Amino acid sequence: MKKTSSILNPQSSIPLKIGVFDSGLGGLTVVKAIVSLIRGAEIFYVADTKNAPYGEKTPEEILLFSLKITQFLIDIHHIDALVVACNTATSAAIKEIRKEYPDLIVIGTEPGIKPAFEQTETGKVGVLATPATLKGEKYQQLANTLSSQRKVTLYEQACPGLVEQIENGEIHTEKTKAMLEKWLAPMRASDVDTIVLGCTHYPLVSEVIEHVMQRRMNLIHTGDAIAKRLLSLSRENGHENRGKLSGILYTTDKISKSIVYNILGREIEIQEIKI
Ligand code: DGL
Repeated sequence: MKKTSSILNPQSSIPLKIGVFDSGLGGLTVVKAIVSLIRGAEIFYVADTKNAPYGEKTPEEILLFSLKITQFLIDIHHIDALVVACNTATSAAIKEIRKEYPDLIVIGTEPGIKPAFEQTETGKVGVLATPATLKGEKYQQLANTLSSQRKVTLYEQACPGLVEQIENGEIHTEKTKAMLEKWLAPMRASDVDTIVLGCTHYPLVSEVIEHVMQRRMNLIHTGDAIAKRLLSLSRENGHENRGKLSGILYTTDKISKSIVYNILGREIEIQEIKI
């Protein structure tokens, strides 16, 4: 058990220090939701681009990357809260992170299949995620529990290669469309009305998904729910939610600055680091 950073002092106006990480830039879709809700905070984001994609790595490798990043955020920034803005890392590492850092507020990201089960009208739900997330125990258990409560047909689809396309800024290219066409055609033919975006990169291809599905879809991602949970847990620890926001984006390899700007709609300091 490791001693981590301090939980907020109720009387202080010290900004809330939030660590966030993902294998790449996808987790910025979660940061966007955090930024729209949280005030008086410093956000330290790690994009582990050197080791991306996580979805095609072993659970042991993903756990190691996740623990190293968490330790970096604690050592350098003494974070109060950690958001694992990655479904794949949540599946492989969240239990261990909570065990290692019991003083830290830790929030994970999981495919929103619960809201999808509640919202589907056709009773047919697509789930797009990385191979590691779909194979993970957490996802399997949730899918089994929900399936025993309501009869919904799940169309699960791993999307190897899609994270790389997005990281390379190849969102509207023919190759990305062809990949999605191959994966989504069975869902289109089966009247799927709700698709769970079970990877934080995938909201960035929402338009392409709707284009391929040939209609507006109920696309479920969990950024807003994560931001709400973060606000509520921080408030319980004395966060007042007023004041300025600032942030630093750390990367472990080169990234495209224009993609960062396109996602966040604002400039952010970027530093390349070795962890
Ligand atoms: N954005 C990630 C997720 O939510 C990881 C994708 C990857 O690196 O494979 O699963």
